[in-house]
Amino acid sequence: MRYDVITLFPEIIEGYCSQSITKRGAQKGVIEINTHNPREFSLDKHKRVDDTPYGGGEGMVLACQPIFDCFENIEKKENHEFIMLTPQGEKFNQKLAVELSKKEQIILLCGHYEGFDERIRLGLKPREISIGDYVLTGGELGALVLIDSISRNLENYLGKDLSAHNDSFSEGLNGLLEYPHYTKPREYRGMAVPEVLLNGNHKEIENFRKEESLKRTKTRRPDLLS
Ligand code: ADE
Repeated sequence: MRYDVITLFPEIIEGYCSQSITKRGAQKGVIEINTHNPREFSLDKHKRVDDTPYGGGEGMVLACQPIFDCFENIEKKENHEFIMLTPQGEKFNQKLAVELSKKEQIILLCGHYEGFDERIRLGLKPREISIGDYVLTGGELGALVLIDSISRNLENYLGKDLSAHNDSFSEGLNGLLEYPHYTKPREYRGMAVPEVLLNGNHKEIENFRKEESLKRTKTRRPDLLS
C-alpha cells in the first residue's frame, strides 16, 4: 500500500509514521508513505497557499493552484483512492478501513485554516471522509487515523503474534467491542484474573471472551448490536 499525503505540515505525518508499527511496516515494505507539500508548488512569489475568502468573513481559504498542481504531480496507480479529510465527509469506521485496505494507493488531502476553495472539491472530486463529529485544526490527524487503521488490515503488517482479526468492531468479533485482557500477575491489589482464563480450556475461554464482548457492547455501545 502506498500512501501519498498532501499536507502543509509533512513533519506531523513523518513524525508519527517513523515510530512503532508504522515504522516497521514501512521497513518491511508493506506500506510506503510519501508526503507532498503544496507550498512547494505555489506559483506565488511568497509561496502563499491561501487567501482571504470572497464575500468576506473570517480566516483564510486554501487556494486551488497549489493543491491542483501538487495533486497532479503525484504518480497514480490504477487502483487508487483520493480522499479529502474534512468534518463534512462520510464518517470513518472499521468497515471503511477494511474496504480501503484493498486499494493499492491512497492519496490523502489535508486541509488547514478555514477550509478549501470549493473548486478543489468540484475539480478533483475527492472522496470526503471525516473521522468524527468535531472540528480539528487540520486534516493531518485524520490522515494518520486512516493510515494507522487501514494498514492494520494489510497482510504481514502486524507481527506474527498480532492480528487485527479480533480487534474491536472487526469481523472476527462480529463487529462487537473487544473482550478484556489480562497479563501477569494473577492478582494485583486484590483484583484477580478470572479463573476461566487460567484453566487452559480453549473452548471455555472462547465462550467467556464472546460473552464479555457481548456484555461490553450491550452496556457501552448498544447501537452496534442493532
Ligand atoms: N479536518 C478537520 N476536522 C476534521 C475531522 N473531524 N475529520 C477529518 N478531517 C478533519
